[in-house]
Amino acid sequence: MGAEVVVEGLTKSFGRQAIWRDVSLTLPPGEVSVLLGPSGTGKSVFLKSMIGLLKPERGSCTINGVDIVRCSESKLYETRKLFGVLFQDGALFGSMNLYDNVAFPLREHTKKSETEIKRIVLEKLEMTGLAGADKKLPGEISGGMRKRAGLARALVLDPEIILVDEPDSGLDPVRTTYISQLFIDVNTQIDATFLIVTHNINLARTVPDNIGMLFRKELVMFGPREVLLTSEEPVVKQFLNGRMDGPIGMSEEKDSATMAAEKAMFEAGHHAGGVEDVRGVPPQMQPTPGLPERMGARRRQDRVMRNLHTLPPAAQEKVIESLSPEEQRHYGVHPHRLVGARQQPQQPPQAQYQGQPPSQHRGQLPADQVASMPQSGWTEPRARDPRQGGT
Ligand SMILES: Nc1ncnc2c1ncn2[C@@H]1O[C@H](COP(=O)(O)OP(=O)(O)O)[C@@H](O)[C@H]1O
Ligand SMILES: [Mg+2]
Repeated sequence: MGAEVVVEGLTKSFGRQAIWRDVSLTLPPGEVSVLLGPSGTGKSVFLKSMIGLLKPERGSCTINGVDIVRCSESKLYETRKLFGVLFQDGALFGSMNLYDNVAFPLREHTKKSETEIKRIVLEKLEMTGLAGADKKLPGEISGGMRKRAGLARALVLDPEIILVDEPDSGLDPVRTTYISQLFIDVNTQIDATFLIVTHNINLARTVPDNIGMLFRKELVMFGPREVLLTSEEPVVKQFLNGRMDGPIGMSEEKDSATMAAEKAMFEAGHHAGGVEDVRGVPPQMQPTPGLPERMGARRRQDRVMRNLHTLPPAAQEKVIESLSPEEQRHYGVHPHRLVGARQQPQQPPQAQYQGQPPSQHRGQLPADQVASMPQSGWTEPRARDPRQGGT
């Protein structure tokens, strides 16, 4: 099983420029998580901090008991071997063919024989759909193939944690879906912990078990996918819909005067961009038929069901709806929709929660590890919620 990564109170700046502060989250072992956030919010800096390439001033990032931020060089060297990293452009050596690129970490970091290296390299090329392409140079293949080769190389040292930076950049929507399927399949096969940084909304809505978002130098949310995907927070809704109206501006964030001026413009009919209202929780991508069950998904389900009561009501509802009837019986839960509709027909949907948008959940994290959403106070879910959720 992949390693758990526990980030607590991480704060990073460059000189006087603060990047983010007090970031706390836990990547559950073997699950797939996505980190969203507008450009320039420090997502790549976060990934680099996780592998010790950058040093945050405060906080810790702990893997198997080792704090990457403060440990010795030798511990860092050891612990880094647990990571496989897929950088934005694949970061392949242009003069080496795919075989040698993928073999590189094995030749650098292990004493394996060339026979053994060959077995591993061909296995990883096969796993990433590159069988037969081993003689190609990076310049001779498509962007999608380069990314898959980067993933193959990230896999050769049997990583427990895989970090991926913007896997969709430069790919068309179809190739992005193929690489998304590959992440799910690789996760199924090796049960590693994944963190994927992306702007791609399709990927973010369908691939991960958990989603977080960086905004205004803070981690505004991190938790089960249902929490962010049902969130009514303006910044989340704006980001998912790619619209101009909202707190995210041309270069990260807007002040209130700009927001007011723009609001008037949009109210007067100016197109705010985006074509449809992206909302709801679509079904999650599954391993390709023929592969075994994804154990990360199984563990996540138990974990989320244990903490279900701590999630916002709309998220709870979507979690319950995603269960099969057998699973609902197993956990002793019922879809709220049916219960609410039958027992409280007189109550208009959503009446109970007006003026009280759900925001930060207190999911699997202790309350003191959770960042708070700007200008919002999430209150504990009430006993039962008749609301029908986001779809
Ligand atoms: N090594 C560095 N030295 C100084 N500033 C940096 C360095 N790396 C990144 N930055 C700055 O940190 C901010 C966040 O960058 P980045 O993590 O690349 O954003 P994102 O990946 O979210 O688009 C940017 O303003 C960038 O200029
Ligand atoms: Mg980046």
